Amino acid sequence: MQIFLDTANLEEIKTAHSWGILDGVTTNPSLVFKEKADFRQRVIDICNIVGGPVSAEVTAPENDTAAMVKQGREIAKWHEHVVVKIPCFPAGLGAIKQLAQDGIRVNTTLIFTPSQALLAAKAGAAYVSPFLGRLDDIQHVGMALVRDLVTIFENYELECQVLAASLRNPLHVVDAALAGADVATLPFAVVQQIMKHPLTDIGQVRFMADWKKLEQELGKA
Ligand code: E4P
Repeated sequence: MQIFLDTANLEEIKTAHSWGILDGVTTNPSLVFKEKADFRQRVIDICNIVGGPVSAEVTAPENDTAAMVKQGREIAKWHEHVVVKIPCFPAGLGAIKQLAQDGIRVNTTLIFTPSQALLAAKAGAAYVSPFLGRLDDIQHVGMALVRDLVTIFENYELECQVLAASLRNPLHVVDAALAGADVATLPFAVVQQIMKHPLTDIGQVRFMADWKKLEQELGKA
């Protein structure tokens, strides 16, 4: 499973990249707003660090195919690694189709049902992003959507990748991997949570204490 970071924060991206775990990045208008950054420049900066797919979302009206295509084409020119994010609306399907015909990779965002994802994939999306955490938030099992999408895309050998999004914790990451998601996009805090285990901490304290004792004893000898 590829690991993307779900952030527009350069320090988080640089850190994850330096750890060798980063395959790509997803951004959205809320994440860019959090950074108070110039959208174009921030996406270019992220692309230059990552060297892999970076999703950047159109902000044109979701009912205006032509406007989304125009903005999507513009965003795609910013960097070779840009993937254009299009929201899952009827007019979005037309935008996905036209951008895909131009050879521009599209990530269809705000997916909440298997049938939305199926239509996005048919229209030519390279990725679909089921928002499983937001489904969990309203008492639906978000991971069931990821499992359904993996099965449906396998049934029909669709090229489109399942990008598990809106992940909230390490168990979401494990379950997405077990479900066969192609990609999981994680907030940096979840990456940190994954690497934290009390037994790892306790084990390391004991190893270091024994090592110190050995050095002291050898020093005495
Ligand atoms: C994915 O591309 C989205 O940016 C993201 O996963 C949304 O997550 P949230 O529900 O935590 O905002």
